[in-house]
Amino acid sequence: MHEISSQSLGTPFSIGSLEARNRAILAPMSGVTDVPFRNLAWQFGAGLVVSEMVASQALMEGEAEMQLKLMQGETSQHVVQLAGREAEWMALAAKMTEDNGADIIDINMGCPAKRVTTGYSGSALMRDLDHALTLIEATVNAVKIPVTLKTRLGWDDNSLNAPELAQRAENAGIQMITIHGRTRCQFYKGQADWQKVKAVRDVIDLPLVVNGDIKTKADADVALSKSGADAVMIGRGAYGVPWLPAYISGGMSENECTSYQTDPEIALSHHDAMLSFYGEASGIRQARKHLGWYFDRLTLPKSASLLKRKIMTSFDVSEIHALVPVLYAMHSDAGTLASTGEAA
Ligand SMILES: Cc1cc2nc3c(=O)[nH]c(=O)nc-3n(C[C@H](O)[C@H](O)[C@H](O)COP(=O)(O)O)c2cc1C
Repeated sequence: MHEISSQSLGTPFSIGSLEARNRAILAPMSGVTDVPFRNLAWQFGAGLVVSEMVASQALMEGEAEMQLKLMQGETSQHVVQLAGREAEWMALAAKMTEDNGADIIDINMGCPAKRVTTGYSGSALMRDLDHALTLIEATVNAVKIPVTLKTRLGWDDNSLNAPELAQRAENAGIQMITIHGRTRCQFYKGQADWQKVKAVRDVIDLPLVVNGDIKTKADADVALSKSGADAVMIGRGAYGVPWLPAYISGGMSENECTSYQTDPEIALSHHDAMLSFYGEASGIRQARKHLGWYFDRLTLPKSASLLKRKIMTSFDVSEIHALVPVLYAMHSDAGTLASTGEAA
């Protein structure tokens, strides 16, 4: 299973009873990896795509937002991430998620947000591994599908306890572990430390996924060799580039990336999918950040900024459809493949 390089990221791997088609996974990102985004990343060829974090208690209490996050969309493998602080809610939510068609449940023990950690969920669970294990055990015992875990290196530099958590999680029946190479107290500052992820590799036999700051094939190579991981997970690098996991897995040429990057129809179909999913009024607002990320990947002259602003503030779908291709036509190929970070 070990010594994977970016050359072999295109090969399948097993997560318990499930086979992932390749080793480049789209990260869960609240407010980003909703059904429309996951559908796109999956269609392009990501190995797996993970839902936004679903709060277990809120799900069981029937919060509509959580039901939306739980939805599968058009992916044939459905990975749902659950978060929580109480074993009972995690078990109930896990069962409901399985009954709803999930193929994998991922437990969130990495979220650094204050509103999450002050509720003792997300990465706060790394401060009390005994308690964290009650959640893991309850989730694993509640379902038949594989349960995986996503976490960080530890709470802070003085408590890098990911290896202990990982080992205990493996004994409790977890089937794959993803490590974001930062501590909770780092939030998103500094650089992910892929080397420190190796300490987890050394103590588990499970599939290990390295995460944090992987944006190019070269990053994936270094992250894999430093960590000894079996797969990579890609988050922010996929902003405006939903094909990035597929590209990093080796399933797509640079030319294909360039053609997607310069094709207004991709941004517009994503936009339209968001309008269908959320309804026009909410969808048009939520789609703006994605349009902005697509536009950031273009090389545009200064004179394009007015047009960009017009698109980003418009509430008129046909105007957006008319103007986006005009903006893309202003793109000039400066010789760099911005969508992958690699030189063309
Ligand atoms: C906007 C945003 C939302 C996120 N939401 C989640 C989440 O719901 N669950 C989770 O486990 N991690 C979440 N993360 C963390 C990412 O999954 C990932 O671990 C982190 O961004 C590092 O990877 P990257 O450098 O490739 O982005 C989020 C990150 C961002 C930027």
